[in-house]
Order: sequence, then C-alpha cells, then structure tokens
Amino acid sequence: MHLTKDEELLLQGERGDTLRRAMEILVALGDIYGAEQLIEIKSAQIAGVSYKTIGDAGLEWISDLDGKVAVPSILNPAGMDLLRWREMSIDEDFARKQLEIINAYRRLGVTIECTCTPYLLYESIASRGDHLAWSESSAVSYANSVIGAMTNREGGPSALAAALVGKTPLYGYHLVENRLPTHVIKVDADLKEYGALGFLVGKIVGDGVPLFVMRSRPDRDDLKALGAAMAASGSVALYYVKDVTQEPPEHDEDACEFVEIEEEEIRSVYDSTIDVDIVALGCPHCSMQELERIADLLEGRKVSSELWICTARRIAESAPELVRRIESTGARVICDTCMVVSPASERFKHMMVNSGKALAYIPGMCGISASFGSLEECIDAATGGS
Ligand code: F3S
Repeated sequence: MHLTKDEELLLQGERGDTLRRAMEILVALGDIYGAEQLIEIKSAQIAGVSYKTIGDAGLEWISDLDGKVAVPSILNPAGMDLLRWREMSIDEDFARKQLEIINAYRRLGVTIECTCTPYLLYESIASRGDHLAWSESSAVSYANSVIGAMTNREGGPSALAAALVGKTPLYGYHLVENRLPTHVIKVDADLKEYGALGFLVGKIVGDGVPLFVMRSRPDRDDLKALGAAMAASGSVALYYVKDVTQEPPEHDEDACEFVEIEEEEIRSVYDSTIDVDIVALGCPHCSMQELERIADLLEGRKVSSELWICTARRIAESAPELVRRIESTGARVICDTCMVVSPASERFKHMMVNSGKALAYIPGMCGISASFGSLEECIDAATGGS
C-alpha cells in the first residue's frame, strides 16, 4: 500500500506509540484487502464497548492507548444503561469494568453516546459520498444504503485505529465497483414491518448486495429494521430499494440472481404463540417516531412481563414526557445498551422481539430463546393482551 510521507512517519512511531499501533492495524488491513492507499474519513463509529463482549483483554488494550481521535467518533452500545444499571440487575463488578471502558474511550476524545443509530443524533456525522469507518453492522448498512455514504464493516480495533489516524484503507465498499447489486429481490407482499423480510433475505444473499423491488414504500425506520436484519442473518452491508433509496451504480441486471419472496414466507418468521418473560424493542435503537408509536400503543395499559425499549440517551433525554408516558405503564426505557450486548438479558428464558437482528443474535449471544412478532403483537405479549 502506498503511504504518504506523513503516514510513513506515523508508522515509524514519530508521533507516538498509539498512532504507530493504529497505523500498523490500518496497514495490515490494507495489505490483506489489497488497498492501494489510505483515504480520509468523516467519522468513526466504534464497536467493542460492552464489557460482556470485549472482557478484560479489550479493556486493557483500550486503556493502554494515549492520544485523541482525529475525527468525530461515537460508541456502539455498552453492556448496561450507564446511569440506571442497578435497575437492570447488573452486578457491581461488571459495572465498574464497564465504566472503566467508557472512561478509557472518553480519554481518547470519543463522544460518549453509546448507540447503533448515530445518524439519528447527528446529521453531520455522515452524508452522501462520505467515507466512514463504522463498525456496528446495522449502522454500516444504514450509512451505505440509506445515507449513501461509504464504509466497510470495521471491527472495533480497526474503527478505533481509523478514528485516531482519521483515515481508513481504500477497499471494499469504499470503491464504487464493489457497490453493484448481486441479487434482485422481488417482494410480492404488502409489508407493514421489514425485520422479518430482512431476516429471510439475509440468509439467502449472505454477503451479497440485494436490490429490492417491492410495492410497499418503506420509511427510514423500516429501512433501519430491514438492513439490521440482513446484516445479522447474513452479512449484508449495502442494499438498494428501487425508487426509495439511492439508485445503484450502472450495472447489468441480467447478471444478478433473481429471488421472489411471498407474503406467506414472511409470515413464517412470526411466532407470537410462545409464553415470554421479556419483550424487548429497539433493535436498532428506537427513533423518536418509534418511541411515540410505542407510547400510543401502551396508552391505558399496564405491562405484565418485563418490557424494555432500547434507545440512545440523547433521544430519551430530548423527550422526557414520552419516556414518562411509556414508563408509567411499567415498561423501561433503557439507554446506552441493548438486549443483545447486555448480560441483563441472560436471566430470562424467552424474549419476544420485533427485530430480525435481535431474533438472529439473542439465542447465541444471550443463551435464551427468542421469537418474532409485530410491534403490536409484542406490546400485546408484554401487557397480557390487556
Ligand atoms: Fe443495535 Fe444492539 Fe440491535 S447494537 S442493532 S440494538 S443488537
């Protein structure tokens, strides 16, 4: 990989050990993927925040770094609500380690917002055509597909390295030629929710780039759910929806694999018959509009099983009345974390979700079973249909 004089100096440690180590990660990645150079990034979104996923080794690695990030950088969800962790039955030892991780990122100048939906908080964090180094798979999918920015799915260390240097290797989804559709997915159904569709399509296309042709018109929250599910059941990092998202680059549609999905297949993902002891919403983190919808559906009801609604702290704090309405029913609005990366989920037996991504990850990451329902079915399950 070609390096500029400045980049060579960083790699030689002329500007300190942290930047040397960061450059080593970027150069190693660039060499593996055949990048010709580094490219400047607009922002970074850094995974590897929950103590549950990175443990002591991760904490030690981050604590050892010294310096400041070179671009706006934001964190992925942590393992607990950073303020109300006791209400989640998180133990003291976990909380102490989690707060140490957060403080280590703070020292590096990373913005302490722990969310997979940074684009809902800061419009300027990514715009069409920007190169990014984001790591959470649903955020990557949203950035590439809905915003029209360009990012690979970074690991935690490579996103942090890119944040410190302000650059990432130029390969993969940073190159237009890798952004062509591989599959055309015709959806013959009137869709209200998109998580179940994404769950199915991710399994079919793997790491491909689907181009959807559908009669429903998904809004931004629907696209967030669709991309998240495909990134989890497959490893889709970019997709298109005809007449809704940006157009794909010029391509030969005949070279794409053609897949047709019918309503019945999508319905088969749903299962609201199982007894649940927790219902969790907000994967990816809820937008304000989703919180409003949940508050309306809960109006006049009381929850009978645990009901978590995960969102970014900045969104919850900007809508205290909405949070009050939701929590007056016995539900909890949980910030900074989620049902997948928090160990708090592990004490339950069966979780119901309205997210294709949570459906794919909960059994493996939390060791409990999961079922999928529409938002209305989830609210019914949590309130005993009251
Ligand atoms: Fe976000 Fe956690 Fe789901 S990070 S996409 S809420 S698994």
